[in-house]
Amino acid sequence: MAKKVVLAYSGGLDTSVAVHWMGKEWGVDVIAVAVDVGQGGDFDLLRSRALAAGAAEVVVVDCREQYADDFVAPALKANALYEGRYPLVSSLSRPIIVEHLVEAARRFGADGVAHGCTGKGNDQVRFEVSTRALAPDLEVLAPVRTWGFTREDSMAYAEEHGIPVNVTRASPYSIDENLWGKAIECGVLEDPWESPPEDVFTLTRPTATEPVELVVAFEAGVPVAVDGKGMGLAELVVHVGDIVGSYGWGRVDMVESRRVGIKSREVYECPGALALLMAHLDLEGLTLERDVFHEKARLEPRWAELVYDGMWHSPLKAALDAFINETQKYVTGEVRLRCEPGRCTVAGRRSDVGLYDYGLATYDAADSFHHSDAAGFVRLWSLGVQTWASRQK
Ligand code: ARG
Repeated sequence: MAKKVVLAYSGGLDTSVAVHWMGKEWGVDVIAVAVDVGQGGDFDLLRSRALAAGAAEVVVVDCREQYADDFVAPALKANALYEGRYPLVSSLSRPIIVEHLVEAARRFGADGVAHGCTGKGNDQVRFEVSTRALAPDLEVLAPVRTWGFTREDSMAYAEEHGIPVNVTRASPYSIDENLWGKAIECGVLEDPWESPPEDVFTLTRPTATEPVELVVAFEAGVPVAVDGKGMGLAELVVHVGDIVGSYGWGRVDMVESRRVGIKSREVYECPGALALLMAHLDLEGLTLERDVFHEKARLEPRWAELVYDGMWHSPLKAALDAFINETQKYVTGEVRLRCEPGRCTVAGRRSDVGLYDYGLATYDAADSFHHSDAAGFVRLWSLGVQTWASRQK
């Protein structure tokens, strides 16, 4: 077994217990690695917790911009929604966490990578596939999947060994968050018929009452400015999410098909992600040639499924990215979003390289379309069906 491992450390109960438990049961040195992908929280407190739990080293990496530019941007270009609804919040963050785990493993000469996932979820799949893709020589350790503790057992273990955890604020929910949104599971949500209690929501609390409009500018498929103010993608996603979320919009409540065969009830809050995905798709409607637009739409669910299934680092995903990037060259322009209590919609769009031609589209006097061309085109378009109808139908 590995002697020195890097652990993906969240600061929560399970990964804190894991630091101690792996040392005690497996005799390994643990380097706790916390990756900031916009989940919020106090990283100084996290550092002291990891050390108190027995970590040999703690590494905190601020990856918000890298996460936005290298993970969120491709997802947006791919209009990525798993099962048509889930913007891949947790699925997107695991591969970047693994990149930094592997980097830390190399730096500290570790021979293993550990994660705090259970055996029932998708995150274990993502951690392990990405680790094997990036560092096939490293051993993968999964203490939480091994020990078989209930939540109470973990709390008792923490208490017995003096591991500081914030059990006072113990939420009945399992939460995973980053700048692309928030996933909420467990507790009362495990009954798919029950409505989520309003108090599970933090990013989409309806407080704003006056309608507002936002103009989002895109360049080559990526949003670069809001209302004329240029910003980096990480900042922009949070900015749009704050505004849109204040109208109580951006929630998803669904039963989802996990990679491991389980149907689970998932609640998400992704105001920024859902607003930007809507705006991006709308701008593609204006700027992409029809065949490209339609073919891309056929490939998008596959992209989302691959990423959901942990295949961020895989040859098919790389090939699809090449196609998608090619399509984004002219996805440049502006989309006007309108926010009102309970909703966010696209109210307008424009682009200097858009394919909308007023002369071709209009029914007014400015019409430049050759109407007579249509007759021959439609005659040939229907010829096969007409022949079939007259002989066989
Ligand atoms: N169901 C979502 C997914 O598989 C969210 C997972 C959330 N992870 C967590 N550890 N709470 O991507």
